[in-house]
Order: sequence, then C-alpha cells, then structure tokens
Amino acid sequence: MAEELTVSEGNKEEKYATLLPQLKAIIDNESDIIAIMANVSAAIKETFDFLWVGFYRVCGSQLILGPFQGPLACTRIAYGKGVCGSAWAEKRTLVVPDVDAFPGHIACSSSSRSEIVVPFYKDGEIAGVLDIDSERTGTFDSADTLWLEKAMAALGNRLSDSSDSGECRPDGIVVYCASSSNVEQCYLDAAKEMGEKIAKAGFTLVSGGGRMGLMAATIDGAIAAGGKATGVLPHFMIEKGWAHPGLTRCLDTPSMHARKQTMASLTVAAVALPGGIGTLDELCEIMTWRQLGLYHGEVVVVNTNGFFDPLLDMFNRMCRQGFMRGNVTPVSVVSTPDEAIDHIRRHIAHNKS
Ligand code: SME
Repeated sequence: MAEELTVSEGNKEEKYATLLPQLKAIIDNESDIIAIMANVSAAIKETFDFLWVGFYRVCGSQLILGPFQGPLACTRIAYGKGVCGSAWAEKRTLVVPDVDAFPGHIACSSSSRSEIVVPFYKDGEIAGVLDIDSERTGTFDSADTLWLEKAMAALGNRLSDSSDSGECRPDGIVVYCASSSNVEQCYLDAAKEMGEKIAKAGFTLVSGGGRMGLMAATIDGAIAAGGKATGVLPHFMIEKGWAHPGLTRCLDTPSMHARKQTMASLTVAAVALPGGIGTLDELCEIMTWRQLGLYHGEVVVVNTNGFFDPLLDMFNRMCRQGFMRGNVTPVSVVSTPDEAIDHIRRHIAHNKS
C-alpha cells in the first residue's frame, strides 16, 4: 500500500495521473471497504487540498455518511435529494459549478462553492457516492469526471469481487400488521409485545409507521422498551397525517411499491402479525421475494389465536398440489413474539456460521 503519497507538482491532469495508480494500490491492497474509503479520501484531499472529500454509502432509501476528510458533514441524505441523492437517483456523475444554482443543494458547509459527486457500483447497483466540495466556483470539469470515474470503477470492481457489500448493515425487523384498531384486544397486546421484543433484542422495528391499530401498538411497544422505530410511508399517507408521532425515523417514499422495497432493504427478517388485505399483500410479496432469492431474511408468521390458520391451509394446499416451488412454503410459523425473535436469532446465527 502507498503509505507515502506522491503528489505531482504539475497541472490537474498530471496530479490525477500520479494519483490514480496510488488510489488503485489503496483499493487493491486492503479488503476492508471503510479503510479503503478513508485512505482514498485522504489521498484525494492531500493531492488537491479540496474543502471536503468523502463517501456516502447506500443504506435503504438513504445515503449515510462514510469516511471523509474535511469539516463536519450531514449524516443522512434521502434518495433524490441534494447533489448526492440526485447523482444516486440519476445514476451518473454530477458536476455542479455553482452550488447556489443547484436546486435542492444541501449545504453541509457554507464554504462550499462547487461540487462533484461520482457514484460507485457493486454488481451493477449503486453502493454509494464519492463527494468532493471546493471553496471556489467552477473547480470541477470533464477531466475530474474522467479520472474520478476511473478511481470509482476500481472501487466498484473491488466491491464486486469481495463479500463486503460496502453498504451499511441493516439492523431492522419489519413487521407487517393491521392498521385497524377495531379488533380483539389479544391482537393489539401481541403487537405491542412484538415491538417490545424487537427493541429488547437490539433490533430496529421497521413498519408502515401508522398511528392506528396493531401498527401503532408495535411502535408503542418498541419505543416504551427504549428501542427505535422506523416508519416507512408513501408521501400521500404522510400528507394525510397517518404517521405515528412517536417514530424515531419517518421515511417518505414516492409509492406503495417503494415503501415495500424500502422496508425490506432495512431489515434482516420480516414478521407478519394479523392484519387485513394490506398485510396479506406485504406478506405474500416478501414470501415471493424470498422464494426468488431477492430477500435473504427469514419470513415469520406469528399465528396469534390461530388467526392465520385458513391462509396456512391454503399454503399447504399449494405445496401438496405442486404450486409452490420445491414444495416448500417460504415462511416459518410461530405462536408468540418470543418464539419469533428466537427463530430469527437462530436463522441469523445459522447464516453466519
Ligand atoms: N452538498 C451535498 C451534501 C453533502 S456535503 O457536500 C458533504 C449535497 O447536496 O448532496
């Protein structure tokens, strides 16, 4: 690894020509992605003395701050927001000659005048962005784009070759359940208990984030147990005031489809509690993704009071009559929230071993 950085005294092109092989050495000679990002940031900063050089990593529907050099920066940027979130959404490098002229620019530092954001990929999906800020307007041009894209291609190749995703690790359990309160108390009690158990086991509760019914009960349970509750709601529901006011985090998605994808991306397991048609839709979709290998977490039904018995009969019929791939139903059935957590823990431990 190039621990001593050589910096060319020449022009921008010469500086990049000297820097790029050293970035490649940093990338190729270390397996830990955070360590790589830290040294890549330091090498670029030392070469050009930019105001801020650093990484944001994709985590669910957000970018989260990674290793950087420079002043304090904002920690989370939503998909499509700011220059970074726009580069992610548009899947391309964005050069911003004057940040004041970029609608929605997020000013982490008031000294920043121009900016370049270069995405990097793992297996064809954006895994994060390199962000560079300058104190002068018009600092970045097509030469920066060309060289920095070469560096990020090297990082992407490294990521694609390694088991390190470069993304943050999800710590959530998503709970699908009713938004109706007009149900027997035993269902509301089990939902509250599910929220408590998730929090006490150290997971983040991820849910549709509603203020009513079993959904509200799970959130109340998680918060009362000192845990975190992330609610994921499509924009129209937030506008209607349907979000639970106690949520630790409220994520705004453009559609119901994006809501389901975002919930899944933040989680290591999915749990279905009793609910109506929306719950059934969510359960069946995550089971489909699990069967297709698009979701790797365990899918668990908590069969409170035998609520799911008719549906489980239907799944069994699908299996018996050859409609379910491999004659296996991609779901596990338990009776209580405690059993659900035990089951998920065993699944996670099994996957690690
Ligand atoms: N300006 C960026 C935010 C990150 S900071 O520049 C470090 C943006 O608009 O996305």
